[in-house]
Amino acid sequence: MCPGRAGHNAEGMRTQVAIIGAGPAGLLLSHLLAQGGVESVVLETRSEEYVAARIRAGILEHSSVELLEAAGLGARIRAEGDEHRGIYLQWPGERHHLDFVDLTGRSVWVYGQTEVQKDLIAARRAGGQEIHYEVSDVALHDVEERPYVTFTDVSGAPQRIDAVVIAGCDGSFGPSRSAVPAAQVFERVYPYSWFGILADVAPSTDELIYAWHPDGFALHSMRSESVSRLYLQVPNGTDPQSWSDDRIWGELSKRLGHGQNGWKLNPGPITDKSVLPMRSYVQTPMRHGELYLAGDAAHIVPPTGAKGLNLAIADVALLSRALISKIKDKDSSYADAYSDHAQRRVWRCTHFSWWMTTMLHTSGDPFDAELQLSQLRWVAGSRAGATGLAENYAGLPIGY
Ligand code: FAD
Ligand code: DHB
Repeated sequence: MCPGRAGHNAEGMRTQVAIIGAGPAGLLLSHLLAQGGVESVVLETRSEEYVAARIRAGILEHSSVELLEAAGLGARIRAEGDEHRGIYLQWPGERHHLDFVDLTGRSVWVYGQTEVQKDLIAARRAGGQEIHYEVSDVALHDVEERPYVTFTDVSGAPQRIDAVVIAGCDGSFGPSRSAVPAAQVFERVYPYSWFGILADVAPSTDELIYAWHPDGFALHSMRSESVSRLYLQVPNGTDPQSWSDDRIWGELSKRLGHGQNGWKLNPGPITDKSVLPMRSYVQTPMRHGELYLAGDAAHIVPPTGAKGLNLAIADVALLSRALISKIKDKDSSYADAYSDHAQRRVWRCTHFSWWMTTMLHTSGDPFDAELQLSQLRWVAGSRAGATGLAENYAGLPIGY
């Protein structure tokens, strides 16, 4: 446990906001609350090292970068991130560049979630907010009126934190989402997964390539000048260890168009392999009594279009303002509006992620394939079509 400001008494600890989960949503919320003069305690089941090393998202929207910069977290993004004007959309024989800056005036940044997490951990150390890693048995109590959280700390001692509110930022497997009774759940499971690799090789492209191919979708992304991140559509249940490196590079080369107009995919040593199942999930409302949900605790999007991390950041932007107004200014209007307000963007991103996913992943049905190709030609060939994709990809303003 780090030194913090939560008061200890005979019953346990007391704080203003008990935050469950130290992923990007929980740590950013804690940081923004501290900047607004509201104290919080964060609980996390994993170790700090594990959380910092998890390989996940890689693209920050324009508004996410603006928000992180305004919160004093932009220095490394500017120094080490890579600003991209747009993406390439391709299908066999054709590759088209969509220039988001030209279409919407907004860019995106390649900056890994691992780096966002490191920046948040460094800011927390500097700010001294209290955080407990490697806790277990986290349970939420009395969320309607006098909320408190119980848990077992890393030494095995039982603990209790009383709070004004609880923020459930504990992702898709945490206990917070099920503490909202009678929530309405919307869900779609897709019949394919993403096989993701990280490779120690310079990217073979200046901007991301999203490729439709009859054998399945492929994506060429990156993390730095010397690290590439690539994905392949694979059937659900694929075991990543059952694919040899040669098979992975062969499949990526074919789907990404190695040899097409002289373009080459450079292979290199693979340092990480994982398979990510894809689903859409929205739970509403995102508030019950004094419990507020943010990020993956309330919604999951399939990764096509890179919305998951950005949506978590956008939720927290709204929630931090709502909790600061409620706790410091005794004005509950933003807190009362939080769920409805956040859901507007959640559904926009849910639609966009579903649309990108279903446009780019093959189902084996030839009718679907012709519709997809027709839609890709329209998006790439019409300024109206390209602008729609660009507006959603580069991101809507916070508060949309
Ligand atoms: P999380 O990052 O999941 O953080 C929740 C935290 O809560 C975790 O640290 C977890 O350990 C902790 N927790 C869980 N249970 C408890 C408990 N009982 N008590 C205390 N703490 C608890 N998005 C993209 O945009 N692009 C991608 O390529 C991409 N790849 C992904 C790959 C994987 C394997 C996963 C799982 C997600 C991926 N995402 C991607 C989604 C993106 O990473 C998430 O949307 C983002 O991490 C959401 O942040 P969060 O803080 O809401 O949740
Ligand atoms: C990455 C992930 C995405 O889901 C995406 O659409 C683009 C890039 C990535 O991990 O780099």
